[in-house]
Amino acid sequence: MVMGVVLLGYGAIGRAVHRSLAEHHEDVEVLRIVDRAVLESGAQNAATALSEAIAGARLVVECASPAAVRSYGPGIIGSGTDLLVASLGALVDPRLAQRLLHDGPGRCYLSTGAIGGLDLIRATAATIQEITLCTRKAPLALLHPGLPEQLRALLAGMRPEHGPEQVFSGSVADAIHLFPSNINVAAALGLAAGNMDRVRVQIIADPTALSTTHGINVHTTSGHYSFEISNVPDPANPATSALTARSMVSGVLRLAGRGPHFI
Ligand SMILES: NC(=O)c1ccc[n+]([C@@H]2O[C@H](COP(=O)([O-])OP(=O)(O)OC[C@H]3O[C@@H](n4cnc5c(N)ncnc54)[C@H](O)[C@@H]3O)[C@@H](O)[C@H]2O)c1
Repeated sequence: MVMGVVLLGYGAIGRAVHRSLAEHHEDVEVLRIVDRAVLESGAQNAATALSEAIAGARLVVECASPAAVRSYGPGIIGSGTDLLVASLGALVDPRLAQRLLHDGPGRCYLSTGAIGGLDLIRATAATIQEITLCTRKAPLALLHPGLPEQLRALLAGMRPEHGPEQVFSGSVADAIHLFPSNINVAAALGLAAGNMDRVRVQIIADPTALSTTHGINVHTTSGHYSFEISNVPDPANPATSALTARSMVSGVLRLAGRGPHFI
């Protein structure tokens, strides 16, 4: 049976997911695309469009923003429709995480997004002492209008001859205030570990970086695990890794019943 899905967000990830899902029409049908930028020119707002669209869908694929997860996530889950989330930073809020992950009746799935290894972290969660994440990105991929002026000027002015610079070190909760669109990986690690406080985050702006690198070290009483993930940025949005859309498509196909299923 073909699974009907709604895409919430039609930017770099949403468009790439849409293109890939078109090759899997025997498993998945995109019933509707809801994006506020697309709808603004029309008569309908995103909330109305989404509530109409989810009536016939089994899954909403969120690739919009943490704000979209906050605004629409509880309604989607409450309607009994399932939700696949890319903007994991939204779930750093424990009350929203509770509503989405535990209240039902719809199910909330978390995309593995720009990394891997979350199955191992989840399996060892009870034994985790600390997870460290060192994210290295090109300065322009870290720039956003909400940054304090001094940090914005530093990132905007970095040249290859300056070398890399640490721009953040601290908790997931603090990282999300400074770099809200760059914290999905840290949030994913905290969610898999069942405790955001176990994750320490370091962010390095590297003007020579051609890819985004996540160095992940997991210290547990059952072993020590290291991952290094080096992602090519999505050409449509340098803050996003091209892997994320592929992970979303892989997740959608898995929910549509396509194996192999590693669990
Ligand atoms: N889990 C991960 O590893 C991971 C990796 C990269 C990006 N992301 C997240 O995925 C999301 C999408 O990334 P992108 O690169 O495609 O972004 P993008 O800016 O290219 O596109 C986002 C689209 O969503 C729409 N949108 C935003 N808020 C909306 C709302 N409230 N209602 C309706 N439409 C809304 C925008 O108009 C835009 O077209 C971001 O939140 C990003 O942080 C997650």
